[in-house]
Amino acid sequence: MKFETQVVHAGDRKRVSGAPAPSTTPIHLATTYLYESTARLDRVFGHEEEGPTYSRYSNPTNDALEELVTSLERGHGSLATASGMAALQIAFQTALLDRPHRVLSANAIYGSTIKMAEQVFGPFGVDFSYVDICDLKAVERAVAEKKPGCVFMESVSNPLLRVGRIDEIARLAREAGAALVVDSTFATPMLMRPITLGANLVVHSATKYLAGHGDVLGGVVVSDQEHYEALRNLARVAGPVLGPFESYLTMRGIKTLAVRFERQCANAKRLAEWLAAHPRVERVYYCSDANHPDACAIRRLFSPELFGAILSFEIKGANKETVLAFMDRLRMIVPGTSLGDVHTLLLYPTIASHRDLSPKMRERMGIRDSLVRVAAGIEAVEDIQADLDQALRGA
Ligand SMILES: Cc1ncc(COP(=O)(O)O)c(C=O)c1O
Repeated sequence: MKFETQVVHAGDRKRVSGAPAPSTTPIHLATTYLYESTARLDRVFGHEEEGPTYSRYSNPTNDALEELVTSLERGHGSLATASGMAALQIAFQTALLDRPHRVLSANAIYGSTIKMAEQVFGPFGVDFSYVDICDLKAVERAVAEKKPGCVFMESVSNPLLRVGRIDEIARLAREAGAALVVDSTFATPMLMRPITLGANLVVHSATKYLAGHGDVLGGVVVSDQEHYEALRNLARVAGPVLGPFESYLTMRGIKTLAVRFERQCANAKRLAEWLAAHPRVERVYYCSDANHPDACAIRRLFSPELFGAILSFEIKGANKETVLAFMDRLRMIVPGTSLGDVHTLLLYPTIASHRDLSPKMRERMGIRDSLVRVAAGIEAVEDIQADLDQALRGA
């Protein structure tokens, strides 16, 4: 089945004990499940038979969402979690369960993931070290030196949109006995499927493209066969699971992922090309750029004709004050701290995603005070363009 068909059908229309199947999965709010005999409940508890017992272990609405995302990512199984951060936390714990408590991470990652490393894992003795994940030689050296139990990267980095060679990095990790965890929130399974490239665990903030409408906080971990049982076992006791209402909304959102993301990518590409010629714009970062430093990886790893729905650009001569004034002039575009929604969002890394880094650190990462990030929505591109234009020109 093609992706566009899978998003609409996978996970739905399950028949339960001969009852008619609903055409879409309902919201199962019950926390506890009963069977016709306690002997059967005992078999379900003992994993001899499939079925829900208690919502922290499994829930029919969550099961449907998990089956859907597993099929989109070509994984073995998934876990729906209460947020993208909860998904990341349990993915790291799963990866490190039987491995040295050392993570080699890409240095260009979401700010809260860096904080998680420091504040959640650091105090429990997990060591995080950082490398330029797009420099394969540096990754090879760091793997040999640090001997990590886990390698971590984002499939597309934030906000400068660098793309590491996941397949090569997966090979290096595998040869060193480390698990590869990939946060693929920016890419969605429509742009790239890291498990098919050798990743072991794939994480999504479902809050973003999967749910897609700015009304759900959620996450998903997709696992290969090797790590799935450990992931589920940890989740049973740690309990980071998604609520069934959010599960339902996420599944409903995913049904339109293909049409939304295709339009968002097309809008982003048009905006990137238009901004590159704008007199108030210094530089544009977008994955279709022929001079992109990772153009080879992008050609090889991305789905044909899609370059992602996020772009960043630097405003000529701008500083924090002028960027804030530019954002205040936006009339339609939402200056919000997220991405992946149907409406276009504009984020200023200096005050949001990369706020906690020192100005020197930001400068070293190439994140200047003149840089803003746009997550293209599904609106008419002319309207997004007109709003950016009037705000850029100071109208
Ligand atoms: C790449 C990435 N990963 C993870 C997260 C965390 O997701 P959530 O906010 O759903 O916990 C975010 C949130 O912005 C993100 O951008």
